[in-house]
Amino acid sequence: MRKIENLFEQTISDIKSKTPFQPDIAIILGSGLGNFAKSVNTIFSIKTNDILNYPTSSVEGHAGKIHFAEYEGKKLILFQGRIHFYEGYSLSQCLLPVQIIKSLRCKNLIVTNAAGGINQYFIPGDLMLIKSFNASMIKKEIAQIVEPLSLVERENISNYPSKKIVDALLEASLEEKFHLKEGLYWISKGPSYETPAEVEMMRRLGADAVGMSTAHEILYATALGIQTVGVSCITNFAAGISKVKLAHADVTETATRVESMFEKFIKRTITLI
Ligand code: HPA
Repeated sequence: MRKIENLFEQTISDIKSKTPFQPDIAIILGSGLGNFAKSVNTIFSIKTNDILNYPTSSVEGHAGKIHFAEYEGKKLILFQGRIHFYEGYSLSQCLLPVQIIKSLRCKNLIVTNAAGGINQYFIPGDLMLIKSFNASMIKKEIAQIVEPLSLVERENISNYPSKKIVDALLEASLEEKFHLKEGLYWISKGPSYETPAEVEMMRRLGADAVGMSTAHEILYATALGIQTVGVSCITNFAAGISKVKLAHADVTETATRVESMFEKFIKRTITLI
C-alpha cells in the first residue's frame, strides 16, 4: 500500500514550489461557494489543469482552481472545483486536496457542499453544520487509504468536529443572525440522486442530509490531525421528502440564491478562528 503523498509526490512538490505562503485555513468550496475567491483578496491562483497529474473535474460549476488568498490577516488556500467519485476517480484522487493541505502544514479546514435535506425541519437555503457523518457506503475504499495511517491517526477521528471551528461557526451564525442547523450527513456515491426509498432508509438511520462528497475529506483530514468541520448548504428536499420532483436546476438555483449569505458567514467564521 502506498501513501497518497507518495502517489502524488510530483503533484505536491509542484504545488509547494508555487505556494506563496503557509496557509492558516483551507476551504474546500462546494456548490454555493464557487465564487468565494472573488470575495477575498486573492493573491495567486493556479488552474488545476496546469498542475502535474491533478485530476480534472468535469462537473459544471466546478472549475478547477487552487487559490491563495488573504482575508482579515488570515492566509487562505481555497480549492475550487471538487473531484468526485462519480466522475470515476479513485478515493486517493478525491483526497488529493486534503493531502495538499497536510503537506502545506495548514492546520484548519472547512469543507462545504450542497446537500439534499432529509430532516423534516430543513428547507432549501438552510445551512447545516455537519455534526457527524455516515461514511459506511465508502468504508471499503477508505480502508484502502486509511491502512497506511498509524493507529493514533485512525483514532484521531473522534476529534471530529473540531470544537474550535464549531465555536467559530456558531458565533458567526449569531453575528449573521441566522439559525445554523446541525445534523448527520450521509454520503451517497452518486452519480444519480437517490430514490425516495433510499432517502427513507437514510432517514430511519438518522440522516439529516445527503450529498455526494465531503465525508471522506473530513474523515481523512481529521485522521491526519487537521482541525476540520463540514458545512452543507441544503439546496433541495431529498428525493421523496417533498412531492416536488428533484431537479438539478433546483440545486444550482438554491446554491446561487444563498451564495452571498454563505460567503459572508464563512468570511465571518474565518475572522473568528
Ligand atoms: N442528493 C445527493 N446529493 C445532493 C443532493 C441530493 O438530494 N442535493 C445536492 N447534492
